[in-house]
Amino acid sequence: MADADLPGEGVSLWSATTPETDYDPLDGDLRVDVAVVGAGIAGLSTAAELDDAGLDVAVLEANRVVSGVTARTTAKLTSLHGLVYHDLVSREGRERAHQYAAANEAAIETVAERAEEIDCEFRRRPAYTYVTDRDRRSSVRKEVEAARSLGLPAEFVDDVPLALDADCAVRFDDQAQFHPRQYLLGLADELESGDGRVFEETRVTDVSGGEPCRVATERGTVTADDVVVATHFPFQDPAGYFARAYPKRSYVLALRVRDPTPEGMYYRPGDPYFSVRPHETAEESLVLVGSQNHKTGQGGSTAERYRRVEQAARDRFEVQSVAYQWSTQDYETSDGVPFVGPIAPWRDHAHVATGYGGWGMTNGVATGTLLADEIAGTGSEWADVYDPGRLPPLESAGTLVEENVDAGKEFVGGWAWSSLAGDGPSLAPGEAQVVRDGSDLVAVYRDEDGEHHRRSAVCPHLGCVVSWNDAERSWDCPCHGSRFEVDGSVVDGPANSGLSEK
Ligand SMILES: Cc1cc2nc3c(=O)[nH]c(=O)nc-3n(C[C@H](O)[C@H](O)[C@H](O)COP(=O)(O)OP(=O)(O)OC[C@H]3O[C@@H](n4cnc5c(N)ncnc54)[C@H](O)[C@@H]3O)c2cc1C
Ligand code: FES
Repeated sequence: MADADLPGEGVSLWSATTPETDYDPLDGDLRVDVAVVGAGIAGLSTAAELDDAGLDVAVLEANRVVSGVTARTTAKLTSLHGLVYHDLVSREGRERAHQYAAANEAAIETVAERAEEIDCEFRRRPAYTYVTDRDRRSSVRKEVEAARSLGLPAEFVDDVPLALDADCAVRFDDQAQFHPRQYLLGLADELESGDGRVFEETRVTDVSGGEPCRVATERGTVTADDVVVATHFPFQDPAGYFARAYPKRSYVLALRVRDPTPEGMYYRPGDPYFSVRPHETAEESLVLVGSQNHKTGQGGSTAERYRRVEQAARDRFEVQSVAYQWSTQDYETSDGVPFVGPIAPWRDHAHVATGYGGWGMTNGVATGTLLADEIAGTGSEWADVYDPGRLPPLESAGTLVEENVDAGKEFVGGWAWSSLAGDGPSLAPGEAQVVRDGSDLVAVYRDEDGEHHRRSAVCPHLGCVVSWNDAERSWDCPCHGSRFEVDGSVVDGPANSGLSEK
């Protein structure tokens, strides 16, 4: 539920322009070769590759197919992920950096190939990472050199063809953009019309690896040779993922502008980052602008974040109107590389895919290829760089400690000594607050009709206290990114159950 005062329709362009899906829930027990949990880009790409390899696959989705983060992305399909390759080569070595580059480039070609059968507005575009600060020219030059040495199509450019305050940029040619829901609904359709199965409204409550693996849902148990947990962030955490990755939210506007349509896809790294890409169909031409990243549950007023994105967009474009506005979040790992592979060394045949750090379109498609190769037993040449069991780089230890201290501050114990006092606030319609009620912390929201909605303010994942998201009208957990509707139900994990009644 979005804030009605914000401009534009509060829904993503991708959801607004595709039909809703209606796959049946699981009904009873099932035996398959592979169970895939989660139907975002990671889960459906994996299911499609496994299906192509002749395996019997079932996809289990808690809500609807492609209704999570993938429904709210900006859908640039590129191996240019900010300025990453110079760091990757220096830190991980040429071999692993090459694996990352190759996996992401191959993903673009996988989508290109499948797009011959699935109509998904796939268009080739150059991608740019630009900087505005002249002092960063040398980082851009180093990035171009590192990327070229890995075989990537990198160029240094002084002249960035969009009226931005750019000093210089890295340009990758032959990158792409697409409509992620059209593409993935197409994959889900192909699965179901073949031997695969897709189950919606089927929340998985427990996964155990082994021979066979067992996947418990609210509607039956699936037994499988392998299980893939592609739930954006794992809801069970056998290997400390919550301490090795943290969630960041950001905001997107789809705009009608009077300026000529940008010819490429643009990204300025930093805090805040700034992202632009065009979206053209026969009916209309829009520009997508994204920015204002912050840790989930810690960004202050989220409605204000939208306003800042709008202002930044108006500084660069002659905006006619805002068509759509939406926001979502992604998990950053300490070394910027996702975790894709065995969920834990002792959990046989259970695999995970998470931590895409804002670049899950190519990384999600690459996940499918990697995990299908691993499960088929041929092994993947990209496995090392994505290995979830790798050690974090030494230089990231500070960042991790900082993020975890940040998270620690939000536990209930911290709030017992906080300045919150009183039995409850007098809220105006549309307002919300966490209040103390005896020994309980209660999340209270007053809706537009004046009715109060009370839920526990304690996140069922690991016990942090939720905070109010005024734009989406949700309760967001500042520790590991779980989000809840005002009725307490889960919007985003890792929490796998809702806020209890109060
Ligand atoms: C604002 C923004 C813009 C972005 N733009 C880009 C971009 O331009 N290019 C790019 O490469 N990347 C981009 N990204 C990143 C990319 O969108 C994500 O990395 C990617 O969509 C994550 O996909 P996923 O499949 O892991 O998660 P999701 O799409 O969230 O899928 C996970 C699914 O699992 C389901 N699920 C959860 N728990 C359970 C359970 N217990 N049982 C069953 N199902 C469950 C959920 O309902 C959900 O449908 C962007 C990210 C943000 C925040
Ligand atoms: S998401 Fe971990 S405590 Fe809330």
